[in-house]
Amino acid sequence: MNSFIINGPGVLRGSISLPGDKSISHRAVILGAIAQGRTMIKGLLESEDVLSTVDALRNMGVKIDHHKEEGMVIEGVGLYGLKDPGQSLNMGNSGTAMRLMAGVLAGQSFPSTLVGDDSLSQRPMSRVVEPLLALGADISVQNTGYPPIQIKPVKRLKGVDYVMPVASAQVKSAFLLAALCADGASRVKEPEQTRDHTERMLRGFGHSISQQGDWISVMGGKELAGAKVVVPGDLSSAAFFIVGAAIAVGSELILKNVGVNSTRTGVIEILRKMGASISYLNENTICGEPTADLVVSSTPLRGVKIETHQVARAIDEFPILSIAAACARGKTTLHGAEELRVKESDRIRSIVCGLNELGISVEERLDGYSVTGGEILPGEVNSRSDHRIAMAFAIAGLVVSGSICIKDTLNVRTSFPGFVELAASIGLQIYEQSGSHRG
Ligand code: S3P
Repeated sequence: MNSFIINGPGVLRGSISLPGDKSISHRAVILGAIAQGRTMIKGLLESEDVLSTVDALRNMGVKIDHHKEEGMVIEGVGLYGLKDPGQSLNMGNSGTAMRLMAGVLAGQSFPSTLVGDDSLSQRPMSRVVEPLLALGADISVQNTGYPPIQIKPVKRLKGVDYVMPVASAQVKSAFLLAALCADGASRVKEPEQTRDHTERMLRGFGHSISQQGDWISVMGGKELAGAKVVVPGDLSSAAFFIVGAAIAVGSELILKNVGVNSTRTGVIEILRKMGASISYLNENTICGEPTADLVVSSTPLRGVKIETHQVARAIDEFPILSIAAACARGKTTLHGAEELRVKESDRIRSIVCGLNELGISVEERLDGYSVTGGEILPGEVNSRSDHRIAMAFAIAGLVVSGSICIKDTLNVRTSFPGFVELAASIGLQIYEQSGSHRG
């Protein structure tokens, strides 16, 4: 089992670019595969999660190659051009890959089975089965609601209106992707706005997708056209260093070309409310996605109440926000985030156990946490095979007098290959140990 050792205290300084956005990367590969003609993607995140999507599409006959100049080049096969893979498609650790691919496969003329690793095999899939059944798909999961997902061919999907019970961009995207193959118009309404990368990218691939009030509407049967895509840096990866620079006294960091789509910037709003100094430079829009260089410097933080309307727009950042909360004066409370229980680990549990290990007082709730800021002490944290837990607690090492050991860190490769090297290049004293530390 791999571990990180972090020696503190430390300071973050410098100017870095982040790896490509994971959500946008999955969508770029998928839309490129089911479009007609060639798609060229610059800045694609080549992490294990995105490569699960790439491999699945290759197994269905799509040519996807890495070129030095053009980036990832995909020869699209059109909406109905995917081929029977003749085997189960393994989505590894990736919930996004599994749920989005379920949407793609729902309207195909061949059967398919989606499987995943141990963690993914314990994540709820009924939420994605329900809307696809509504569209007329023949799709099922075991009665536990967990993978594998089995899909059988049907004659045609039929456009419907669907009201989502859970705020989930993966479910919304699965519905929209399946609706591309349905007869007529389909509409979906979400309980809380979630990341809208699928909607933006569909427009970039020439598809007219419209918003009427709370309803997102898409017309089926119209082919997409291959496109040139440039993927911005991932704000969810940047968030580790934003918090690091905010909490480590004397830090000053520039994070270049980060995606700042307002459906993702809950983390910046929450940190600013806590007193963090984060400013935008060189704001731009690339392929329909807003970007900026972020400038962060250390300031004292204060505890805040996180508003429930901010939860969906910061859903992946609560592990690292809990580290900011541990370094803040006073209490930070989070409610309405029960979704954290069904991520790559039960993140509420993982955060509570990790903070307790490091001497921070935290109250666990069914739908959140309440963290009282204090002194983070040296200690050992188990990531529970969750990449965002591993990276969040590695950042805590910046404010510790001594060392922190993070157990079980291989999963960082699912979203952030090169994390250790990039973190070390700006001042985090982090080392990776392989094999020897078994826990
Ligand atoms: C994602 C949506 C979110 C997020 C995940 C990526 C996406 O999940 O947590 O990391 O790319 O659509 P939910 O859709 O389950 O909220």
